[in-house]
Amino acid sequence: MPDKYDDFRVSLMGWYKPSDRPMPWKEIDNPYFIWLSEIILQQTRVEQGKDYYLKFVEKYPTVFDLAKAPEDELMKMWEGLGYYSRARNLHAAAKHIAFELDGKFPETYEGILSLKGVGPYTAAAIGSFAFGLPYAVLDGNVYRVLSRYYGIETPTDSTEGKKEIAGIAESVLDKERPGKFNQAIMDFGATVCKPKGALCETACTMRQKCLAFKEKRVYEFPVRKKKLKKTLRFFHFFILEDNGSVFIRKRTEKDIWQNLYDFPSLETEKETDFTALEKSDAFKELVGGDYNIKTHSQSYKQELTHRTVIARFHELEVSSNFAGNDNWTKVERKEIRNFAFPKIIDRYLNDKSLYLKLF
Ligand code: ADE
Repeated sequence: MPDKYDDFRVSLMGWYKPSDRPMPWKEIDNPYFIWLSEIILQQTRVEQGKDYYLKFVEKYPTVFDLAKAPEDELMKMWEGLGYYSRARNLHAAAKHIAFELDGKFPETYEGILSLKGVGPYTAAAIGSFAFGLPYAVLDGNVYRVLSRYYGIETPTDSTEGKKEIAGIAESVLDKERPGKFNQAIMDFGATVCKPKGALCETACTMRQKCLAFKEKRVYEFPVRKKKLKKTLRFFHFFILEDNGSVFIRKRTEKDIWQNLYDFPSLETEKETDFTALEKSDAFKELVGGDYNIKTHSQSYKQELTHRTVIARFHELEVSSNFAGNDNWTKVERKEIRNFAFPKIIDRYLNDKSLYLKLF
């Protein structure tokens, strides 16, 4: 007699057709490629991740190629994907695999989990896809699918809720085909059991047994106890130009965008206009001397997981004896695209280049 876990497993596996949602990392068994794809997909949509994945496997066909890549080149390859600690961890783990494990990818769950940048979700994904290890993936998609189907009222952002879902995931997992099962639940969550606009009536083959559907409460799950509170950060970036060259600097401090490039900048506690900023000691210390104001940008906004960043860009012409700061590098405007910038700066540079061809 099939139990409530068998029902879920059988309908999910019956629903899944790998070819319905083709992805270049599906149905392959090269653990290095699978790992690469999972790191890219950690905070990135599949559609966007695909192009990056293809670019990476072409440029770095083996873990040795990735391990030997210069850091700046790798950051440039990663540009636009965001959450750059993923790229730094990827590089560190590639060096570990290439030079300490002789290029042999770890084959146990614990071994995979010990790689830098790999958490339980990614370890379960890689382990199941590459080696058939029976570990269930747990992420927002899985929480949503399982909490709806089983009507889990315990908040999924509580310790008990997490345990409860983990227990269910373990019970529903197809232990003979864990990779296929994990891919199926990811795809099902992404394309049918969606956060908004779930396709219960038109595409869901599991609705008869889905508690949320039966009770018309689909959007009440997953239950959460707290809302994510985001901090706001305000940045002013100064594009200090002297004769077609500008100053940039590498963000070496332990903060957002570590190891990416930006422009000399000031961070303020609240939204501040340029006139007020210009009078501050911090500004005088940063820019000093004479300058001509060329343009001020509109304000740009970027949402990160835990913070919202607001940025404005000010183009100032400085005199040719302006020396800047030891940590700044003077580069020609046309060379600026060789450096990796955070997305918010990239957007500004793109906007500028569209009509002025300045960068
Ligand atoms: N998100 C993370 N890993 C994924 C995968 N293998 N397929 C689709 N979405 C994913």
